[in-house]
Amino acid sequence: QPLPTLSAPSREVPIKGVQGDSLELACAPVPTPLVVFWSFTPPGSLAPQPIAVTNGAEVKVEPGALTLGTLSLRNSSLVLEGLHTAAQGRFLCQALYSAGGELHTAYSYIILSVLVPVSKPQVRLSSPSPVEGESLVVACVIREGTGPVSFAWQHQGPQGSRGALIERTEQLLHLEPVNRTHTGWYICSAQNEVNRLNSEGVYLDVIYGPDEPVIRVEPLSISEDRYWASEREEVTLSCLAPSNPPSRYVWLHDHTQVHSGPTYVIACARQAHAGHYTCLAHNSHLDTHTQATIQLTIFYPPQGQPTCAVFPGAGAVVLHCSWPGGLPEAQLQWEGPEGTSPSAPTNLTWTHPSTQLPNGSIFTCITQHPALARPVLCRITLWEPSSTPICSTKVTAEDQFIMLSCEWPGGQPSGSLTWYNKEEQLLGSSRSSPAIQLLKAHEGLAGKEFTCRGTHPLRNPDPECRLQLEAPRLVVDQPHVSVLEGREALLGCLLQGGSPPPQLHWLCPQQRPVDPNTPHYTLQQSGSWFSLILHDADPARHSGIYHCFAWNALGNASHSVLLEVQRYPAPPNVTISSLTYGRQRSEVRLQWATKGPGNLTGFMVQRRASSPGSGAGVWERAAGDIEPESRGRRLGGLDPGILYSFRVLALNHRTAGHPSEVKTPVDPPFNAYPAVLGAAGTGMVVATVASLLVFQYAVRHPETFPREAPISTITPGSPLEPNDTPVNVTITVTATP
Ligand SMILES: *[C@@H]1O[C@H](CO)[C@@H](O)[C@H](O)[C@H]1NC(C)=O
Ligand SMILES: *[C@@H]1O[C@H](CO)[C@@H](O)[C@H](O)[C@H]1NC(C)=O
Ligand SMILES: *[C@@H]1O[C@H](CO)[C@@H](O)[C@H](O)[C@H]1NC(C)=O
Ligand SMILES: *[C@@H]1O[C@H](CO)[C@@H](O)[C@H](O)[C@H]1NC(C)=O
Ligand SMILES: *[C@@H]1O[C@H](CO)[C@@H](O)[C@H](O)[C@H]1NC(C)=O
Repeated sequence: QPLPTLSAPSREVPIKGVQGDSLELACAPVPTPLVVFWSFTPPGSLAPQPIAVTNGAEVKVEPGALTLGTLSLRNSSLVLEGLHTAAQGRFLCQALYSAGGELHTAYSYIILSVLVPVSKPQVRLSSPSPVEGESLVVACVIREGTGPVSFAWQHQGPQGSRGALIERTEQLLHLEPVNRTHTGWYICSAQNEVNRLNSEGVYLDVIYGPDEPVIRVEPLSISEDRYWASEREEVTLSCLAPSNPPSRYVWLHDHTQVHSGPTYVIACARQAHAGHYTCLAHNSHLDTHTQATIQLTIFYPPQGQPTCAVFPGAGAVVLHCSWPGGLPEAQLQWEGPEGTSPSAPTNLTWTHPSTQLPNGSIFTCITQHPALARPVLCRITLWEPSSTPICSTKVTAEDQFIMLSCEWPGGQPSGSLTWYNKEEQLLGSSRSSPAIQLLKAHEGLAGKEFTCRGTHPLRNPDPECRLQLEAPRLVVDQPHVSVLEGREALLGCLLQGGSPPPQLHWLCPQQRPVDPNTPHYTLQQSGSWFSLILHDADPARHSGIYHCFAWNALGNASHSVLLEVQRYPAPPNVTISSLTYGRQRSEVRLQWATKGPGNLTGFMVQRRASSPGSGAGVWERAAGDIEPESRGRRLGGLDPGILYSFRVLALNHRTAGHPSEVKTPVDPPFNAYPAVLGAAGTGMVVATVASLLVFQYAVRHPETFPREAPISTITPGSPLEPNDTPVNVTITVTATP
């Protein structure tokens, strides 16, 4: 940069220089000056001081002039390097030159102003950490700088947000009072004619708080100024109290500390979590506290399920819905086929007209509770019982009371039943099925009529049933029954009426009630028939007068049946035509014939042992089931030592005829003996006598002699015709000991 060259004017020239810079002050322009002389007059002084002189060849600089800077002369110009502020003042240059042989002097006056640049400004806070509300001065300080100096301010938020220019140009910022918005970095800049410099940032930390805490509850549910949460929900309580330094938080639940920190989480809310929650905020720097309290309510639904019921009303149905408990109370509302009821908490009763309501109408009780995501429903389906009531009677307490019973089960609501007597007087009160009415039993009640009337909101007109009390009435099927012996007899008895239902008995001829467990008897009841069946009828035991007997609390009835058990027609008489011993005395051969008219189905042979000492024994059966065509029989298995008598009876079914005459067996004609005694030969009396002895021995000891010989070989010629005349010979074999 060329130094400014000034020709010496005749008047004062103002010049500005900047401290430290270089400057050339030109003298008046004259041709080849002989001497140039520079002097300086500081401000406020009148005496100029010489600072440099040159004669063109030599230069002389006054040492004292070094306070102005580094001085030198370039031709007639004064060069100032490293300008000092002391160089401010009046410079005078005098140049001596010759022109036309004469010496001339030229002057030039220069008024030099030395400008100082502003130094780097610094931000100074009257207090680095003021408390909100105090007064604070922020100053922009410069060490030097030629005025006028102007200032500019920039403020940057604590989080390094972009700096904002503050519209103030003063060197001092008065923050009065200081508040939290003033927190942050401050930068100032200073500027004069020469330069402009920015300060470093200085941080202003305003201490404040804590403010009144703000509590947030999540999930947020507010009702009537209270916070509430549902049971089992996760509830988050957060507290915020702005403060510098930041607040420290403590949570109290009903005065007991439960948590420290800004956020208190209740993972699963229970009823015990209800209550007051206080958030305490603390500024440790200022030791100041603030607090806030909220009330938390834990909502829980009522236990179980809502219950509903329906009752009959006058031309209406009365619907009840109830769900007690819970916090808050559940809200209930009925919804019917034609609209809804007003809603009410906990208990709700709605009376709805029943006319026109069809069978199967549905009413729903809708219950809502803030702790439940969905409403809980309780449903009632109205229906009318089908058909009509059924009346019946019974007796109780050993016939002392008659019980009228009326049944009409089912229905929603259930039908109600009322008993009336014939005069339409109410007996007792209305009841649901079964409706029981007790009457003291007496005969005067016979013939009385009673009506049971059912009412149901959906049913019109009212259905009813009737009953009439009466003593038993009965008839017998046949008053006279006759059967043959061994057959089955049926005695029928028909109950024609009786209310309460009578009890029935058959009385046997001995006037005892027939027990169904008795052999021969079966009692059978089907419908109104009550029959007595007699099996295997016996004329002697079963013939007689039977009674069918019925009774109830109002009276009794009885009818008799005569039963005749008849024998079959008598079989014919029988006579024994022949009765002889067989080859041994343990056998007899019997032949018989019938005599006279009669039907027969078989024969029976009886025998009787007659021992000499004790007389005649009892008749016992020797053979039965003998075909009616048979007229003869061999009978074995006799004790040869015993004398038997025999008789024969003809049978017609079970009827036995007159027994035949009694006979004892005789020995067959003697010519039968050779067969027995074959081995002994004939013609020898001794031998024969001996054989007889053997025979007798054989009779006594039948077990040692073979008995294989058939009877027919014993008596080959004996007559077998049924009409044989009886044998009148009796041989008595006496076994002598
Ligand atoms: C100054 O002097 C030098 C010789 O020292 C000369 O060359 C130069 O031209 C002069 N300058 C002026 C402006 O007179
Ligand atoms: C803080 O002070 C400034 C001015 O100094 C004012 O505009 C602002 O409203 C104040 N803020 C608060 C929170 O007091
Ligand atoms: C009404 O409906 C129910 C079933 O929904 C049925 O059992 C009943 O018999 C019905 N009553 C009449 C009188 O139709
Ligand atoms: C059968 O025998 C009985 C007694 O033995 C007698 O009374 C009756 O008259 C006899 N009947 C005939 C048809 O001979
Ligand atoms: C014998 O019985 C037959 C049939 O069983 C019958 O036809 C006949 O009349 C009876 N005779 C007598 C005598 O009763």
